Amino acid sequence: MNDRVGSPKAWGGRFAMSPDKRVEALNASVKFDIRLVREDIRGSIAHVRMLGRQEIVSGDEAARIETGLWDVLAEVDRDEFRLTVADEDVHTGVERRLRASIGDVTGKLHTGRSRNDQVANDFRMWTKRALVEIGNGLIGFADALVDSAAAHPDAAMPGYTHLQRAQPVLLGHHLLAYVEMSIRDLDRVRDAHRRTDVLVLGSGALAGTSFPLDRESVATDLGFSRVSANSLDAVADRDFALDTLFACATIAVHFSRLSEELILWSSGEFRFIELSDAFSTGSSIMPQKKNADIAELGRGKSGRVFGDLMALLTTLKGLPLAYNKDMQEDKEGVFDAVDTVLALLDVLPPMVASTRFNIERMAEAAIADFALATDAADLLAKHGVPFREAHGVVGRLVGTCLAEGRTFADLLEEEWAEVHPVFGKQRPPLDALASVSLRDIRGGTAPNRVRDAIAEARPALDEQRRWFETEAAGFDALFVRP
Ligand code: ARG
Repeated sequence: MNDRVGSPKAWGGRFAMSPDKRVEALNASVKFDIRLVREDIRGSIAHVRMLGRQEIVSGDEAARIETGLWDVLAEVDRDEFRLTVADEDVHTGVERRLRASIGDVTGKLHTGRSRNDQVANDFRMWTKRALVEIGNGLIGFADALVDSAAAHPDAAMPGYTHLQRAQPVLLGHHLLAYVEMSIRDLDRVRDAHRRTDVLVLGSGALAGTSFPLDRESVATDLGFSRVSANSLDAVADRDFALDTLFACATIAVHFSRLSEELILWSSGEFRFIELSDAFSTGSSIMPQKKNADIAELGRGKSGRVFGDLMALLTTLKGLPLAYNKDMQEDKEGVFDAVDTVLALLDVLPPMVASTRFNIERMAEAAIADFALATDAADLLAKHGVPFREAHGVVGRLVGTCLAEGRTFADLLEEEWAEVHPVFGKQRPPLDALASVSLRDIRGGTAPNRVRDAIAEARPALDEQRRWFETEAAGFDALFVRP
């Protein structure tokens, strides 16, 4: 006898045999798609309300099913709802639970719907919410960087190319570089959100449905801005998940680069910063050690996020239209990438905020290794010397100084004059602040330009904040029982 008789399995009567026990574990997605349970229930509520409005089911049936679904949601919120592996997936599990409380009328809920459009819709709702959380976190991260930049208005440090000291920059300018990355990341997150924000319910298993569904009203009920245009694409499309993973991967690259700088800067070789004890760890054997483990995780966690992106690209590659079970593999990577980015967003802002900068040491390093040589060459060029020639003059001067173990600051006035007559009249800048002040151009590192950049970043972040907060509030409101 078939042990599935009377079971709530979504695929019902045509099977003479229950699935092999070994199949169940591989096939079931309950372990992870439980995370879609609230979206699944809310999606069903919108669907059944519409079925009632369209008189596809009676008003009374729709109302009973809706009430039952809100009750299941309340159970979820009390943390009392459980799936079992026999449920196969969250969609079947919710229906099983609903049937246990309201009985056979439950069977009408799935009219004009398939798990294929259902799961894609649930996942889109979940992803929209996740993107909004990431956006809010990114704003907090950018705020911490802007605050730190504003707190060190005149602090100079070496700017690097090839990790060799190149030209002095302001610490604020360096920190604001990461703010720019964050603002682009926010745009990417919103872009991913825009493409995720499409209702796919109404696509059925693949071909649409013969029931007169009112898709627009379901979209409005669930807070979707648009309705999908092609049913085959709608159930097969996971681009929104790829977009989300790519946004997460790019965020992770940026975190990794900043983290690497914090690790370098906290080393004895640099001594530019002191990480707070609260964001460092010790060694079990070397009593003197203070390790930048948290920043190392900020660097290292990127690997798994890239892996999540690569895994889904690989899963989707070559899949024929429309839905294939391969696509069940879409969720865990997105959950992992989102969890990872959110975990880092929890920690990086306070780590940045609590980092103490060793301003004197940074300023000293800013002008070491002839980092002011470009300014000397620029000065000659401003007096009509072709830049290539000026480059040669100053290059030879650097060579002489290196051979004699001297720096620009050690040169006497007459020695400058011997290098070039222009230097007889005017010496190039010999301190970092004078040097950075010369780069007074939009996007440059002069103190007034960095002040302007801070003044521009704050309202740009405020605009982002308003958008993400409005989205979050709208989403929360969907789950309030009327
Ligand atoms: N658990 C499935 C998934 O995540 C739900 C859709 C199942 N559809 C199907 N035709 N087997 O993709």
